[in-house]
Amino acid sequence: MAGNRTFSMIKPHAVADNHIGGILKLMEEGGFRIVAMKKTQLSAQQAGKFYEVHSERPFYGELCEMMSAGPIVALILEKENAVADFRKLIGATDPAEAEPGTIRSIYAKSKGENAVHGSDSDENAAIESAFFFSGFERY
Ligand code: PPS
Repeated sequence: MAGNRTFSMIKPHAVADNHIGGILKLMEEGGFRIVAMKKTQLSAQQAGKFYEVHSERPFYGELCEMMSAGPIVALILEKENAVADFRKLIGATDPAEAEPGTIRSIYAKSKGENAVHGSDSDENAAIESAFFFSGFERY
């Protein structure tokens, strides 16, 4: 059965461009409830750990550098069928392929600077949520 929570990050370029409010509005209008939210900055080492699964890919260094270049907003979001529905709401990784109206179609600049991260499975949503939040912080 699909879970009801997912994890998301608003990426540094979108935070720097003052798009936190616009992106949160689309998340809420998309039917997601904000369970936990935190603005923080990753070190390059922490970004490396978060994206470890991509460590063999050619863009890994660039991705870690970009994700630690400035503050991010980390979120746990709740909705039925959360992981799949959130991936639909954000759109394709490459903004050139993102459906009109999706968060990435509006706010992404490139495959790396693509505005938001969304977990790709219930298992990873739980792992990624625990990376940023303790049980005490989840409402
Ligand atoms: S996905 O959604 O996992 O299927 O997408 P994928 O293409 O595998 O990309 C995984 C994450 O890597 C980022 N990415 C890049 N960063 C920098 N440069 C390049 N060229 C690049 N290509 C992909 C992409 O934004 C994904 O990050 P997250 O945070 O998971 O969205």
